[in-house]
Amino acid sequence: MRAQADDRHPDLRAALENLLAAGGKRIRPRLVLLMGNMLGADPERLITLAAAIEMLHTATLVHDDLIDGSLLRRGNETLNANWPPAATVLTGDFVFARAAKLAAQTGSLTVMEEFAETLAIMVNGELTQMFDARGLANRGNYYERIYAKTGSLFELSTHGAAIISPVDAKIVANARNFGRELGTAFQIVDDILDFTGDQAAVGKPVGSDLLQGLITLPALYYIEDNPKDENVQSLLNGHYHNEKEIALLVEAIRQSDAIQRSLEEAKDYARRALLSLNGHPPSEERDALENLAEYITNRNV
Ligand code: IPE
Ligand code: IPE
Ligand code: MG
Ligand code: MG
Repeated sequence: MRAQADDRHPDLRAALENLLAAGGKRIRPRLVLLMGNMLGADPERLITLAAAIEMLHTATLVHDDLIDGSLLRRGNETLNANWPPAATVLTGDFVFARAAKLAAQTGSLTVMEEFAETLAIMVNGELTQMFDARGLANRGNYYERIYAKTGSLFELSTHGAAIISPVDAKIVANARNFGRELGTAFQIVDDILDFTGDQAAVGKPVGSDLLQGLITLPALYYIEDNPKDENVQSLLNGHYHNEKEIALLVEAIRQSDAIQRSLEEAKDYARRALLSLNGHPPSEERDALENLAEYITNRNV
């Protein structure tokens, strides 16, 4: 990934170096490597795919933080905290371009096609989130949103790894399912951490979803149980800019069983994901994927 900024503008190189040095959890490339190793893919191609996907993820974060006006990512200031929007957009574009090049270097046209399709789904998701009415409280809509945002890229990670492995279509389909369901679990937990997380640990702003009018699973549970609550009514009517009301609502949700119920739902997705691995003989990779699923639903970062 580092090699991707060679010979470029020094500011661009420094920006990319910072983004990569901050690390992040690197869950998506880990999924690529574990799934691909389990299925017998060529290690060089797998590493290329893993880097492509992590670069794609990084590029979406550069643009997302600009879109959301977020100043903190992976515990560091974001590019948009210090740079004009134009420079931030261009840096994101550069990282997208490098990600696409790496995806092409896997040598699989199918991977390239899925890569492009995933990016289209993610961009469409960001746009939908931007234009849709705020305060939209609906479970179907929630699951569509988190598929676009996260499920799709987790899906690409395990699907892409399977595509470049010497396995049949059924195993490819199962690998794909595994990623999608695990990604859904991951995003539900991300949404819980927006209520319960410690900002220093999480490394990005917390408590911000409701303030942006974004209704996630914990809020959906709370709204279902407390439809008459004044602050709920106010939120549903689109008055999410009232910081005092929203702070009260965040606290109420945090204290309620909505958090635990959401976590149970995330765990259901993680368990379902693991069912897709049935049929694979025991292996170190399979154990590691099970541990990763466990980590995803137990993490606090
Ligand atoms: C952040 O993803 C964006 C979401 C989809 C929630 P991660 O939580 O995987 O971010 P890093 O890569 O570990 O920073
Ligand atoms: C994540 O969306 C961005 C993408 C996957 C494009 P959010 O805005 O909800 O995530 P965070 O909280 O900034 O990581
Ligand atoms: Mg954001
Ligand atoms: Mg966003």
